[in-house]
Amino acid sequence: MIQADLAIVGISELATPEGTATRLGPDLGRVRTIRDAAVACRDGRIVFVGPEREYRQAVGMDPSGRTIDARGGTVLPGFVDAHTHLPFAGWRESEFNERLSGATYESIAARGGGILSTVEATRAASREDLAQMVRARLDAMVELGTTLTEAKSGYGLSTAAELKQLEAIRDGAHGHPVEVVATFLGAHTVPKDRRAERGRYLDEIMSEMLPEVVQRGLASYADAFIDARAFSKDEAKRVLDAARRLGLGLRVHADQLADDGAASLAAELGAASADHLEHVSEAGIADLARSATVAVLLPAARFFLMQEAKPPVRRLIDAGVAVAVATDFNPGTCPGEAMGTVVELACLTLGLSIDEAIAAATLNAAAALGRSAETGSVEVGKRADLVVHAVPNRYHLVYRFGVRRVRTVVVRGRVVVDDGRILPR
Ligand code: NIG
Ligand code: FE
Repeated sequence: MIQADLAIVGISELATPEGTATRLGPDLGRVRTIRDAAVACRDGRIVFVGPEREYRQAVGMDPSGRTIDARGGTVLPGFVDAHTHLPFAGWRESEFNERLSGATYESIAARGGGILSTVEATRAASREDLAQMVRARLDAMVELGTTLTEAKSGYGLSTAAELKQLEAIRDGAHGHPVEVVATFLGAHTVPKDRRAERGRYLDEIMSEMLPEVVQRGLASYADAFIDARAFSKDEAKRVLDAARRLGLGLRVHADQLADDGAASLAAELGAASADHLEHVSEAGIADLARSATVAVLLPAARFFLMQEAKPPVRRLIDAGVAVAVATDFNPGTCPGEAMGTVVELACLTLGLSIDEAIAAATLNAAAALGRSAETGSVEVGKRADLVVHAVPNRYHLVYRFGVRRVRTVVVRGRVVVDDGRILPR
């Protein structure tokens, strides 16, 4: 008999990718589905996944254990959000309103708005306030089914303010059920006060910020925004090389608004992810296919920017590139933290199948964060990070778009969200 301390029964359908490696090509859409399923966990790990009738024979419940009735819901692995700019202060709804009347994201950035507006607000916020915001946003995310997330700095753009943002991630995440993987994004753009001396700003990133971030263990990855308004490919390469030498993993904001050859750089440097990719070239796709770099697509940011250019998702998948999807949660290009919406948009605007979108939002996203051995699928031995969606099968996740669906969230074998609401800790 397998002993359990938590079980979920009454599952109409369970759907999960399998394994610890990224799902590639035709395997992206091969998810395991079980009708009338049950899952059991013990000490935070999954000990049984299968049909409920087998569960009844195979699993014994601890006297103090708990059995949850999924009431005909659908169970998926918890969503993994592999790209967020979580510790920001202030929103940018006025700029958004201008964009609705024809202003472009680039023109707003050119007059000192955009990222620089958020830099101003974030510099003015205290570390405690930012940590509080991080915590509240993690609460909102877990209510939407996210059980592991990435979080970037990049709105400080000075040594003190970047460190403040990373400390806010650490403090806000402390004791929170959602695990947060921190990324240093000092190379997000050149701040207003350093525009006349961008070389000096780059030097400060490499000689002050990076060593301090690493020495204090505040981030495990570094990221750079390669763009006409941010950093050239060569500038980003210098920063990312320095980060890699200090032992950080790498990510790149790549080919979002133009083809900058950024995907090829990400592949060349062995980056964990190349993100956005709306304008990636055929050469970029080929380079990614030869690498282990995960292509993190951000369909909600593209939708929110009303961008025409589409990441060539089918060519990426067919070439054998590992594809994940994430929110890009930030006040400028994706003020929403819902991975359920990302899954909807991945299907309805990028043309992923529902099964592909599920794997892209869970296992492949976990791989982009270096966590796919631990989580990202519902399998024996993995961390018990799972979500009951109040729909009869996985197709309803997209078919019934825009509807609030998360009923129960389990993180490390603990019920964190019940009846759609986060439980007091
Ligand atoms: O991922 N592209 C650059 N950075 C963010 C947007 C940041 C902002 O507008 O504040 C992104 O889209
Ligand atoms: Fe981003």
